[in-house]
Amino acid sequence: MIQPSGQELEIKVGNTFISYNEAGDKQNPVIIFIHGFPFDKKMWNAQLEVLGNKFRCIAFDLPGYGRSQKTNDISIESYADLLDSFMHLMQIDKAAICGLSMGGYIALRAIVKYPSRFSRLILCDTQCIADTDEGRKKRYSTIEAIEKDGLGPFTEGFMKNLFTEKNLQSDESYLQAIKTTMLSASPETVTGTLKALAERIETCSNLSDIKVPVLVICGEEDKITPVKQSQFLHENIPGAKIILLPNAAHLSNIEQPGLFNDAVKGFMESSN
Ligand code: MLT
Repeated sequence: MIQPSGQELEIKVGNTFISYNEAGDKQNPVIIFIHGFPFDKKMWNAQLEVLGNKFRCIAFDLPGYGRSQKTNDISIESYADLLDSFMHLMQIDKAAICGLSMGGYIALRAIVKYPSRFSRLILCDTQCIADTDEGRKKRYSTIEAIEKDGLGPFTEGFMKNLFTEKNLQSDESYLQAIKTTMLSASPETVTGTLKALAERIETCSNLSDIKVPVLVICGEEDKITPVKQSQFLHENIPGAKIILLPNAAHLSNIEQPGLFNDAVKGFMESSN
């Protein structure tokens, strides 16, 4: 069955209804966008709106986020498997996969398990390392804090790391939009994902095996996945390109949508 284009579409992957947005002509090269933690497909709205003129762009909600159904099976591994099954059900053999932060962790794991699914790889504000012991401990104390106090204090604290100081002081409408997204996720899914992030395995040892063209993008002021992690990806993936975005922190596609979209378009249209 050919799936339609549009907003809030739904497809059943295994036992789970997955919600996705799609923009662009079905004949065009496909880009699949994977959101970061704890956001949803709406974080890619500015990409679908513009890049949909040239490419078939699809952004889906991971289970328990946005409008996708919840599941108890939360791990980077199962998210990578979900990407493969989603593509199978959408009848997409190969696509450029674009993942931000956790979306990048998923893409880096999926390219190890399902290399034939990838035509290109776009790694945004992400890294290949596993959590340090200290990072892991912090995730588990965040889980306890959410179980005790709910998502409110966590969201306020996390917001400070997502954007540049300057943008945090501004009245940009995306600030409230991201906060609303974070507060609308289910607390069980958020704590389950924190555990999945804490337990994820590294993918740095697989970088030299990547055979497709790769673009690395990072906000120059990213505090969560700092530029040095992107530089490591760039130096260790054969032939990878890197673009650093000024006046952007962790959510570089939201803070610099124009530069971000130009980078993706240029990369998609380049011969490698
Ligand atoms: C994300 O944006 O996906 C998360 O900040 C990733 C992480 O916490 O490691």
